[in-house]
Amino acid sequence: MANLPNQDGMFAFFFRRLLAIPQFAAPTSPTTVLLIGANSGIGLAAAEILLSLPGLKNLLLTTRSREKSLQTRQHLANLCPASVNIETFEVDLTDYDSIREFVTNLNAGSNSGTRSVNIAILNAGLMMGKYELGHGRFELTLQVNYISTALLSLLLLPNLRSGSGTSSSPSRLSICSSDGHYFATPIPTLYNSDDGILCYLNDPSNFSSQGAYLTSKLLGILFGRALSEKLDPTEVLVNMINPGIARTNLFRDLGWLFRISMWLCGRSVHVAAGVVVQGALGDSGVVSGGFYSEGRDTKPLSEVFTERGRELQERLWSETLDLLRAEYEGSTSALAQIYNDGLGGRGRMVEASGTVRAKDDL
Ligand SMILES: NC(=O)c1ccc[n+]([C@@H]2O[C@H](COP(=O)([O-])OP(=O)(O)OC[C@H]3O[C@@H](n4cnc5c(N)ncnc54)[C@H](OP(=O)(O)O)[C@@H]3O)[C@@H](O)[C@H]2O)c1
Repeated sequence: MANLPNQDGMFAFFFRRLLAIPQFAAPTSPTTVLLIGANSGIGLAAAEILLSLPGLKNLLLTTRSREKSLQTRQHLANLCPASVNIETFEVDLTDYDSIREFVTNLNAGSNSGTRSVNIAILNAGLMMGKYELGHGRFELTLQVNYISTALLSLLLLPNLRSGSGTSSSPSRLSICSSDGHYFATPIPTLYNSDDGILCYLNDPSNFSSQGAYLTSKLLGILFGRALSEKLDPTEVLVNMINPGIARTNLFRDLGWLFRISMWLCGRSVHVAAGVVVQGALGDSGVVSGGFYSEGRDTKPLSEVFTERGRELQERLWSETLDLLRAEYEGSTSALAQIYNDGLGGRGRMVEASGTVRAKDDL
């Protein structure tokens, strides 16, 4: 029974719903926190909590439009202490040009060309009711929740690394995840997909609304684990956070029965946001490459740890980096920079393809 929260399956899933979220000690906020997807739901509530923490100097928030940025600033204005500077940026994760512009804008005010960030919380996500393509060639859930989130995590590495130079603790990259990933497309199916994992998931005949969402979160865990293994956790620590089911607009595209069930089993948005803030800033239960689920370090899907799971993780890593290299110029250079100057890579090198090798092998 004690290990039930760490298990796969429906029984464990419902058992976890019954567990109380541990009481949190309010963490001290690091100087600069970047929160992606801050205008609604868990992101907006997390921004409110961040503003109540001591130590915060810069809160950098993203929304999808100027109008939403303005509304978010207005909403937070009364909660913002005079000592905190809020900045808003726009980024649409369906569009690589928008991502490029966001990174340029983020770094624009910095003398060194790289804005220091201590904590980056990649919270933006969606659940689509039907198969739709974005600006690129990938289905929107796959694009936003996985591909663009993976891209952002690479593009923000120089910022996080610069942030770790300004602080006594490592910078953090926290990716919003879900314990729904236990019910994603099974790992053997992904493993046996002939044309690659992303192509398989992008095929409309393999799409289902919930399936696409849950699988995007499994991919996020695999990618985050792979990334964390390639970084020095004393410089940049990567973790995946499950806020738990919360009453937000995430399910707006789905049928009323599903929306009502989520509403009934959901916690309040502030409780879920508290989990995100603790997972991103706190110490208890936070592990490099770990799955911080509803306040605890929890085992993700058990198959992730099998030989097949590990191989899938490495394949996904290579496929993703190959894709990003082809579609987004400069996407691997951030990672390559960290490895190749020997500061984070502990004697490993990253090739332009994103392949990591021991320096001795070259
Ligand atoms: N709610 C839950 O039960 C639950 C459970 C587990 C995990 N999560 C995760 O928690 C995170 C926050 O979700 P939420 O429940 O707070 O939902 P939400 O209220 O719908 O918030 C999602 C956020 O992501 C942004 N976003 C969506 N598509 C985007 C895009 N293409 N580009 C940039 N930003 C985009 C949204 O902006 P717009 O307002 O412009 O759409 C919004 O700021 C997500 O990663 C979700 O998967 C939620």
